[in-house]
Amino acid sequence: MARWLGGSVLLVALFLAGGGSGLASEKKSFLDSVKDVDKPFDSRAVRQVQPITQTTVLVKEESQGGPFRVLARKEQIERYRCSNCHGEKEVKGKDAFNLTHGNVVIHHGQEGNALACIDCHHPQDRNSLEDKKGRKIDFDHSYQLCGQCHFRQKRDWLGGAHGKRVAYWAGERVAYNCTTCHDPHAPKFAKRFPATYSVPLH
Ligand code: HEC
Ligand code: HEC
Ligand code: HEC
Ligand code: HEC
Repeated sequence: MARWLGGSVLLVALFLAGGGSGLASEKKSFLDSVKDVDKPFDSRAVRQVQPITQTTVLVKEESQGGPFRVLARKEQIERYRCSNCHGEKEVKGKDAFNLTHGNVVIHHGQEGNALACIDCHHPQDRNSLEDKKGRKIDFDHSYQLCGQCHFRQKRDWLGGAHGKRVAYWAGERVAYNCTTCHDPHAPKFAKRFPATYSVPLH
């Protein structure tokens, strides 16, 4: 309770300090801006750090650019917590798999040699993923799972060359997770035609 209160007081204070000055500079009168016209203008000045409303977690790997954060996944996953059904006992029932996970179709891996559920999911603890050495990987850190096989893309991602950064360049770096973009069960993007298409000349 005390922590909560402390947190909200701090937030209000930040809002007053940040929001207040922000408003003052935005709501300048027309006359003020005429008077200010010969003041030097710094086009590189960072006026505002974009607030990020999604939940993020600190990335567990080293990167050249220093520590950064990644968009969390668990609250986005429809059937999380998996242990609601996958407990000590095996879940049984007629056609149970299709009823619950009929939407999971694997198009991942070489033709005729698709990955199996347990190449990625922990065989007992369904709330976790699992790496090839049997260690648990949290769903929020699924980049560690993908990175075992796609190490080149993961290295690029750590450096910021693959994937995308949330918001702008100001403020702390927050990256999209692999699974924000790729469906782990069918990660390849479908081919798309351009919106406008010109018939080839010959
Ligand atoms: C509404 C209940 C329910 C929830 C929630 C649920 N599952 Fe399942 N799951 C089932 C049933 C039923 C089966 C089929 C029986 C079985 O294989 O255990 C199944 C099977 C599976 C299998 C295949 C097992 C195999 O060896 O073929 C995997 C993998 C799996 N679930 C993962 C998950 C994950 C990951 C989550 C959470 C994101 C989850 N499940 C949430 C009911 C559920
Ligand atoms: C390449 C690794 C990989 C394989 C193979 C894989 N999964 Fe997943 N699965 C994931 C990851 C990673 C997530 C979390 C996705 C996210 O962040 O949204 C996930 C999410 C899920 C979910 C929760 C989301 C949903 O659609 O309900 C279920 C259920 C699930 N997997 C079941 C399965 C089953 C059943 C199989 C086998 C038929 C399987 N998975 C195979 C990596 C995998
Ligand atoms: C156990 C190894 C393994 C894991 C773990 C794994 N993949 Fe893959 N992935 C493969 C294989 C094998 C292929 C097929 C490669 C090929 O056809 O050249 C593939 C193909 C792909 C492709 C399509 C590449 C192409 O150009 O066809 C993407 C995208 C991809 N994976 C993303 C992911 C993501 C995202 C994750 C994590 C959720 C992940 N993979 C986890 C082995 C893995
Ligand atoms: C912002 C979205 C985004 C994120 C985040 C992202 N990818 Fe991709 N990924 C793409 C796009 C777009 C392509 C190109 C697809 C194409 O050319 O059809 C791609 C291609 C790939 C390929 C195919 C080979 C290649 O390089 O073209 C693999 C494998 C892959 N990504 C793995 C990953 C892994 C692993 C992560 C996390 C460490 C990740 N991606 C994060 C969007 C993303």
